[in-house]
Amino acid sequence: MKTDDKRLPHLLEQIVHPLLEWYDANARILPWRASRDPYRIWISEIMLQQTRVETVRPYFERFLAELPTIRFLAEVPEERLMKLWEGLGYYSRARNMQKAARIILERHGGIFPSDPDEILALPGIGEYTAGAIASIAFQQPVPAVDGNVLRVAARLIESQEDPASPRVRANLVAALKKIYPEERCGDFTQSLMELGATVCLPNGKPKCGQCPLAELCLAKRNNRTDELPVKPPKKPRRIERKTVLLILCGEKTAICRRNSRGLLAGLFEFPNREGDLSVDEIRRELTTAQEIRPFLPARHIFSHVEWEMKSYRIRVPEELPQFQWIGRRELAEEITLPTAFQPFRKALLAEGLPGTEK
Ligand code: ADE
Ligand code: SF4
Repeated sequence: MKTDDKRLPHLLEQIVHPLLEWYDANARILPWRASRDPYRIWISEIMLQQTRVETVRPYFERFLAELPTIRFLAEVPEERLMKLWEGLGYYSRARNMQKAARIILERHGGIFPSDPDEILALPGIGEYTAGAIASIAFQQPVPAVDGNVLRVAARLIESQEDPASPRVRANLVAALKKIYPEERCGDFTQSLMELGATVCLPNGKPKCGQCPLAELCLAKRNNRTDELPVKPPKKPRRIERKTVLLILCGEKTAICRRNSRGLLAGLFEFPNREGDLSVDEIRRELTTAQEIRPFLPARHIFSHVEWEMKSYRIRVPEELPQFQWIGRRELAEEITLPTAFQPFRKALLAEGLPGTEK
């Protein structure tokens, strides 16, 4: 069956009851499920957009302990916000949340809007997140279709369509809208996600034996659960080579800020250059360098790009003015560095006090 099939709402209608019953007995206990505070639901949904539940858990607790309300989020200094986000990645998510928090203070009197269109208009909130907040926090029949839900649906209706296609998603949203159980909108949203996250697992590994929808599922009936959803061919990641410069002066280390646009915008980083630089090339730029030693290589995978980094540990006699210079404690505890640069931070800190080696 395809997602624009007229019979789809009728089929989906039959999953509501068994799915909710299953959810009541099997839902994981997660910190954001303890309340219907839209602020908490919002934070959890943003964190969960690109990050696994088990990773999000401690971040969520720490974030809410320090920023318990929209006003705290609107007013927290950016450096502190980045620190709370450090390691979660996709930092623009945090920046957009702060923008949205300020808008909520200015335009909505500090109260999180309940109108789905007003939610959707906030920075960093797309159709999925707006649906999740509207249904979970405000009990409105607005579907939230994420990858989990698309996978469950593709198998349930044995659809060969590309689940990444916007048209397929729109069809599914439209069909779900018709069958949302008015009295349990939030639970229905979460039960679909939960089934995808814990039972109808990706990569041909669904646990159909535990599934409350097994009797309705067309892929199961026709033995095609391994083939669905179809995988569209993936574009290979672009590989970028970089040379990271770990420049030390006394016990200080050089850092700088990334450009305010693009990947990891505005965050601190160790100075680095495009490409695979030789010692001679570095010496041409850092003419006062006393020592340039090859240091560890590292690799970091983003969604569309992969960085292959080599590094040099460089000693200079005086602090160069084009960089910011930080001491050990700041390097260890204060500065927010993207995960891509953590191997270097770790290795520098493990080396003992810079400046004390001979
Ligand atoms: N993934 C996205 N939203 C979620 C939620 N509310 N619970 C569990 N996993 C999720
Ligand atoms: Fe997924 Fe299997 Fe359940 Fe079908 S029966 S929805 S494939 S877990």
